[in-house]
Amino acid sequence: MPPPVRIAPSLLSADFVHLARDVARVEDAGADWLHVDVMDGHFVPNLSIGLPVVEALKGVARRPLDVHIMISDPLAYAERYVKAGADVLTCHVETRPEALQAIRRAGARAGLALNPGTDVERVRDLLPQCDMVLVMSVHPGFGGQKFMPEVLPKIERLRAWGFEGDVEIDGGIGPATVGDAASAGANVFVAGSSVFRSPDWAATIRTLRDTAQARLGARS
Ligand code: DX5
Ligand code: ZN
Repeated sequence: MPPPVRIAPSLLSADFVHLARDVARVEDAGADWLHVDVMDGHFVPNLSIGLPVVEALKGVARRPLDVHIMISDPLAYAERYVKAGADVLTCHVETRPEALQAIRRAGARAGLALNPGTDVERVRDLLPQCDMVLVMSVHPGFGGQKFMPEVLPKIERLRAWGFEGDVEIDGGIGPATVGDAASAGANVFVAGSSVFRSPDWAATIRTLRDTAQARLGARS
């Protein structure tokens, strides 16, 4: 049985002045999880949001917070992000993956992300500590970039190794790319610009879900 399809709109593409309004709207439009991108201007060449915003989001969100920390020292912050409200907290394998244990200890589900240039072998020994693996399909730091299909074999490898947890794909996911990601074995789909820049968020989320479900179903 493949794990359930989840659509996780990335709030990086929401309107930050009206964040609570956009959270409510995207939840009403069918979002399963809310993807929250935290950047430190060091591990990635951009800054976004941090602990106080995650805490504020937790106060209004009706769906789980899927927090992706693109920061150089996740070990120093893991517990604080869980306390702030992360239900799933994902750190990068290129940083300090010891944070995985701290995340679980603090009571959240632990995710491990890998950049497009990172060999999937690097996560293999860590899989028992992962509830989720996040495969980046763009270089992290910015929304609205072009999907990199060359990362898809990594997802196939993870499933071939028998990893039964969630496999999330992040970057450039929209109606045209979600199907191939699902066929490779992904079941959690981050979608920033394709949802928030579309005229009908509910219709876009429905298309993403239906396409992913059909292709995941055809796999098993
Ligand atoms: C990129 C972030 C993504 C980003 C995706 O560093 O991790 O979550 O918001 O945006 P889109 O879906 O527009 O590529
Ligand atoms: Zn992300």
